[in-house]
Amino acid sequence: MNSFAESQLDLIADALVERGYWVMDNALPKILLNQLLIYFNHLQADEFKVAGIGRQTDFQVQGTIRSDKIHWIQPSIEIMAEFLESMGSLRVGLNRRLFMGLFDYESHFAHYPIGAFYKKHLDAFRGKHQQGKSNRVLSTVLYLNHAWQPSDGGELLLYAEDDENRVIESILPEYGRLVIFLSEKFPHEVLPAKRERKSIAGWFRVNEGDL
Ligand code: OGA
Ligand code: MN
Repeated sequence: MNSFAESQLDLIADALVERGYWVMDNALPKILLNQLLIYFNHLQADEFKVAGIGRQTDFQVQGTIRSDKIHWIQPSIEIMAEFLESMGSLRVGLNRRLFMGLFDYESHFAHYPIGAFYKKHLDAFRGKHQQGKSNRVLSTVLYLNHAWQPSDGGELLLYAEDDENRVIESILPEYGRLVIFLSEKFPHEVLPAKRERKSIAGWFRVNEGDL
C-alpha cells in the first residue's frame, strides 16, 4: 500500500548511479506524512534524547557537533510500521536494481529546536570496515515542516565527495521532501534555523558480515 512505484524506483536508482544522491517532493503519501507529523507532535519532551555521534552501542554525546534531539522509530507502533513498510519497498527495489545488499533500516525522528544545527559530517566512515563500523550505506532524510521559507534557514547542505568545501546542493526541509544519498560519499551539514525543524533521518545498512 505504501510502496514506492516501480517508476519512482527506476528514477532513484538512476540518480544514485549517476550522482549518488536524489531529492524528491511528495515521495510518500500525504496521509502517511500527516500521521507521522501528528505522532511526532504528540511525543513528549522526555521521549526525545540528546543525539549522539556513532551508533547506539558506542554512544557519545557531542553537543558541539549537533544539537538536535531524537526519538528512534519503533516498528511496534502502527504508523511507524507503515513508514518502515515504504522504506522496506525502497530497500527491496534498490537491491533489485543495484544489488546494493541493503539489509535493514534504522531511523529516528529528529527535532531541531530554533538555532539547532548538525555540523559537517559523514554518516559512515569512508573505506569499508574501518573499525568494523561502516555498515550504513544509504542515508535518507524526510522533512515534516509545512511552508518552509528560504529565510527560515535550516538548509541541508551537501558537499562534493572530492571537495568538502564545495556545496553541491542546498536543500530546504520542506514538508514531504525526501533526500537519499550514499552515506560514505557526501559530507553534509544542517544549518541553524529560525523555526523548529522536524525530520526523520534513517540509514539502510548492509550486513556486518558482508563488509
Ligand atoms: C543526520 C543528518 C540531515 C537533516 O541526522 O545524520 O544529517 O537534514 N540529518 O536533518
Ligand atoms: Mn547525517
